[in-house]
Amino acid sequence: MNKKNVAILGATGAVGSRLIKCLEQSNIEVNEIKLLASKRSAGTTLKFNDQDVVVKEATPEEFDGIDLVLASAGGSVSKKFLPEAVKRGAVCVDNTSAFRMEEDVPLVIPEVNPDSLKDHHGIIANPNCSTIQMVLALNPIKEKYGLKQVIVSTYQAASGAGQSAINELKKDSQQYINGEKMDANIFPVKSDKPHYPLAFNLLPQIDVFEEDGYTHEEWKMIHETKKILLNDMNSKDIKVTATCVRVPVEIGHGEAVYFETDNQEPEISDLKNLISQGSGLVLEDDPKKCIYPQPINAAGKNDTFVGRLRKDEENPGNYHMWVVSDNLLKGAALNTVQIAEKLVEMKLV
Ligand code: A2P
Repeated sequence: MNKKNVAILGATGAVGSRLIKCLEQSNIEVNEIKLLASKRSAGTTLKFNDQDVVVKEATPEEFDGIDLVLASAGGSVSKKFLPEAVKRGAVCVDNTSAFRMEEDVPLVIPEVNPDSLKDHHGIIANPNCSTIQMVLALNPIKEKYGLKQVIVSTYQAASGAGQSAINELKKDSQQYINGEKMDANIFPVKSDKPHYPLAFNLLPQIDVFEEDGYTHEEWKMIHETKKILLNDMNSKDIKVTATCVRVPVEIGHGEAVYFETDNQEPEISDLKNLISQGSGLVLEDDPKKCIYPQPINAAGKNDTFVGRLRKDEENPGNYHMWVVSDNLLKGAALNTVQIAEKLVEMKLV
């Protein structure tokens, strides 16, 4: 039987609502759909393919008979339920960071490393949103010219922290405009104080700080990039470093990516050709007409947009580019569903 019983864990969230849409638009034939969330949402109704589906509280038993789980309900929820789902025979694609660095868990961007799916043991991890769009743009360049070094600064949208974060950004923006005191309960880390307002502000902290002064988001970008491109999260073959900043944008992460090719010095026209031919990539790069990627234009789109490609004139073999993508789509729901499509296509589920 090709039709799959699919559960979406975290179906009521910012990514969850997009998982529903991406699944509807995918080539996965769905037999039964189960929409799971917390107790708070149990009994509410969501649509799947124009049919009303009642949301259920996630419990281990809800995964009985499920073939495929798409999860985006937070790391602790994934840790609690995905091993239970696997025990019951399901294959899980997890959008959280709970399992990404485990050795037997493939970390997959379907355009980049689909073959690593063959090694799965029931759980496949979707990379961090900021990693996906950067690696998608770098991969064709790495394949043709090699990569020595990547230095990235991110400009990450509020929606990466979930629906409540979007709500807070909108409320705080209004409060700022009204000259009122802004509430701050979510940024930079919901579960950890202090909190600062994001509206009309920039926060150079995403996720908690590590001992070495990097944030965990920065750590993720560094080690996930190596795991995806080199199959080794600690490889030194490509040097990667990151500064991650939350910006008051609703949807769409921007990234200033500085990279060094290995032993050749391609022309900008060569790099532009590679990007325009890359799967899931769109070149938007015409400085004379002030054309370059912007989050407001990328929101709601499946593609990742690349522009501002230029040489570092003082360091041959080094380049800059600007990469923008909808963090809730290619950065999360779309990549998750594309992984699921590949699993079905490769008969791995
Ligand atoms: P709920 O809406 O019932 O709280 P977001 O990333 O936008 O904040 O969404 C988080 C998603 O994870 C929501 O669907 C939320 O459901 C779900 N969720 C949060 N906690 C749990 C839990 N303990 N069990 C199952 N789902 C959860």
